Amino acid sequence: MNPIAALSDRRYVAEQYRNADNLNARIMLHRRFSTNPYGWIRWVFDQLHLPPQCRILELGSGPGDLWLENLDRIPALWTITISDSSPGMARQARRSLAGRTHPFQFRIIDAQAIPYKKESFDVVIADHMLYHVPDRSRVFSEIHRVLKAGGRFYASTIGRNHIRELGELIGRFDPDLASWGWRSPDSFLLENGASQLSQQFSQVSLRRYEDSLIVTEAAPLVDYLLSGRIETAVENREKIAKFVERELADSGGAFHVTKDSGLFEAVR
Ligand SMILES: C[S@@+](CC[C@H](N)C(=O)[O-])C[C@H]1O[C@@H](n2cnc3c(N)ncnc32)[C@H](O)[C@@H]1O
Repeated sequence: MNPIAALSDRRYVAEQYRNADNLNARIMLHRRFSTNPYGWIRWVFDQLHLPPQCRILELGSGPGDLWLENLDRIPALWTITISDSSPGMARQARRSLAGRTHPFQFRIIDAQAIPYKKESFDVVIADHMLYHVPDRSRVFSEIHRVLKAGGRFYASTIGRNHIRELGELIGRFDPDLASWGWRSPDSFLLENGASQLSQQFSQVSLRRYEDSLIVTEAAPLVDYLLSGRIETAVENREKIAKFVERELADSGGAFHVTKDSGLFEAVR
């Protein structure tokens, strides 16, 4: 049996995002070792070209970092609903953001069944979450339904080569785990997202965020690897930690990792 779950495997997704711990281990590595100092989350916010007054729905928000890190520049008249299918994530978002300067609404929502009437929103955002959804065409129909005519859909995702070196590293540790970084060709990726979105939306465009990782410490790299699809397959944490330390030393103390992320904008 392949020990690596598919990114859209329901059981994997429910367990992986029970709370924010796994996601935070990955975010930590990006925060500490990314070569682009601007920061992905600030960059995503820069790309939202919205009027001073609008209704926004975020799907799969996780702990709500998009809003937390941009609190200082959210226009007062934006009505923002933050949602996630994981009750643990929705709780975390509420904990981080309730009572802040901007009044947010929090909901538990599966993107495949959005509980709002048609044309309820000016904007829908799905940040690094569509590759986790088994029935993406249903999600696109739902987003199309709840967006007003002319409304904007923003969807971020990764490319095929994103963190490729980490998959290769895991494969050297254990060839059975070589598919760690594998993404199904029919997933939602930078390479195929435009054709998927164009079936329901118009004026689809993509902007990429230039970045990479230069990792100089083993421990956060091990936390990252174990936060993903091998957490149950690797029983011996010490063994993988020693392996990563050796690999890092062999690379002269700096491990270079490709990053490939971007944001689609589409019009309803
Ligand atoms: C990789 S995390 C991204 C979190 C956040 N958007 C970010 O970029 O930091 C994916 C999130 O999507 C959520 N998710 C997965 N499947 C979902 C679905 N069908 N509907 C809504 N949220 C979902 C997960 O619970 C998780 O919080």
